[in-house]
Amino acid sequence: MTNIINDLTKIVSEAFEECGYDKSLGAVSVSDRLDLCQFQCNGAFAGAKLYKKAPFMIADEVAEKISKNEIFKSVEMVKPGFINITLNDESILKKILEIADDINLGIPQSDKCETIVLDYGGPNVAKPLHIGHLRSAIIGESLKRIARAMGNRVISDVHLGDWGLQIGLVIAELSERNPGWICFSPEFNPDKDKVDPINVDELNEIYPFASQKSKSDDDFKEKARTITAELQSGHKGYMAVWKEIMRVSVKDLKENYQKLYVDFDLWYGESDADKYVDELIDRLNEKGLLYESDGAMVVDVEEETDKTSIPPVIIKKSDNSNIYATTDLATIIQRQKDFNPDRIWYVVDKRQGLHLTQVFRCAKKAGIVPKSTELAHLAIGTMNGKDGKPYKTRDGGVMRLSDLLNTVIEAAYEKMSDENFESVEEKREAAQKVAVAAVKFGDLSNHITKDYIFDIEKFLSFEGKTGTYLIYTVTRINSILRNLGIDEDNPIKFKGIYSDVERELMLNIILSGEAFKHSFDERAPSVICDNAYRLASLFSTFYHDNHIMGETDEDKQSTWISLCILVKKLLVKHLDVLGIKAVERM
Ligand code: ARG
Repeated sequence: MTNIINDLTKIVSEAFEECGYDKSLGAVSVSDRLDLCQFQCNGAFAGAKLYKKAPFMIADEVAEKISKNEIFKSVEMVKPGFINITLNDESILKKILEIADDINLGIPQSDKCETIVLDYGGPNVAKPLHIGHLRSAIIGESLKRIARAMGNRVISDVHLGDWGLQIGLVIAELSERNPGWICFSPEFNPDKDKVDPINVDELNEIYPFASQKSKSDDDFKEKARTITAELQSGHKGYMAVWKEIMRVSVKDLKENYQKLYVDFDLWYGESDADKYVDELIDRLNEKGLLYESDGAMVVDVEEETDKTSIPPVIIKKSDNSNIYATTDLATIIQRQKDFNPDRIWYVVDKRQGLHLTQVFRCAKKAGIVPKSTELAHLAIGTMNGKDGKPYKTRDGGVMRLSDLLNTVIEAAYEKMSDENFESVEEKREAAQKVAVAAVKFGDLSNHITKDYIFDIEKFLSFEGKTGTYLIYTVTRINSILRNLGIDEDNPIKFKGIYSDVERELMLNIILSGEAFKHSFDERAPSVICDNAYRLASLFSTFYHDNHIMGETDEDKQSTWISLCILVKKLLVKHLDVLGIKAVERM
């Protein structure tokens, strides 16, 4: 399907050319004064400089040329040199029908299906998910869906932190609590001995306990360090407990992500990169990049244009152990081998900027990925409480993701009235979806790098720019269709445009594809949020102004019903790429 901005740009560019000017001046954009016109072209201003002519003269000639085209209602030159363009209603209706017929609802498909590896989530095994992981999960999931909606191949990887000191701490504590476990005995034989089961509540309690203990008990800390190193070199007993910890922890993580409709294609962890570390070292040595500094092995990544100093990246510590950067680099080798991606995107806290800069530079220097591969840190801001500081529990602790979500689900449940539902189960299910919508939209409607304030009351409001309002709008459409006894497969008929707000709504539908493209190009789900809100607000005005149910003119009523169906489909599509599910009633 062609896109309206491209169609118009083509027409106007040709007119510039026919008038003897450069084609490239014909770029058309959406008008920033919709009360005056729908689209505009400002190319005459640049033309004026090139051709030493007043802009209005150029604009006049071009406007004159295109005004003959029958798709326009009006084309006007407005001084000092704008070209204001308005489509006629037939052209709008034609385009709307095309969109209704298109399986992608007018969302432009990438010319070249790009392969994108998306690294988001980044939870750490044995530590419960906390709200620090919320943004990365929400934003990453949405970017994945946006990129896919535009026809790209996206592989999402949770990239578990499963290989670090936190595991050593947990195993050290388990060994102190259960000295009799067979896996801690030198006689342990993985082929016949079974590891004792661990339960998730114990696991979630152990990590903070052990972490606290290591701060005051040096022997314990040392023990955890040793265990980590032994685990990483393949100690059989520790490997066996590690597998059990992984089993319990991953199951719990999956359940939690599922509640947020977040899902990953790959559940790889840092440990999976281990087998690529030797290759990494070889590559760095071949290129002569690795050198010793204070006992550690490092690579310089500073560049001449740096304004602040970027320290060398450490690949091996003085005790020969691998660190965070080693793992990230080895993971890039794995991703390159498995997927040969055009882009690798990291949806990670902005405070990890230096680390990722070092890693990306080192990867490019070592030729681990081709120069053309985009390695990008999509840096995310912090979710703050009403005090403007990072969101905390009442007693100042880090809040668990499941606790946060449960609080919002309860609040959503309380807010909705029983009589709108057929059963308590339906209401429960709706509360879950409303809560996710509220939390996600509250997050995604901000630019990803910006910090924002988590405000349950605001996010759950049925009015204003909230996820709640958006899914509420869908339920209003559901109720119209239910009352008319019509389903979404009803034949679409657009017979005319009967009011200004309809025209504006239709125009917005036509431009939604642009919003998708823009949001993909800018890596900005917030653009989808803005567009969804605009669609929903226009729909609300349209619905308020017109009495769809009682309309006796058949053409009018069927056009309005078709508009309801199309707006619903498009809103649901917007919500879908935001990772939000609509509900039947609320
Ligand atoms: N597990 C890390 C943390 O909690 C985040 C991982 C981010 N992804 C990456 N490839 N470094 O800080």
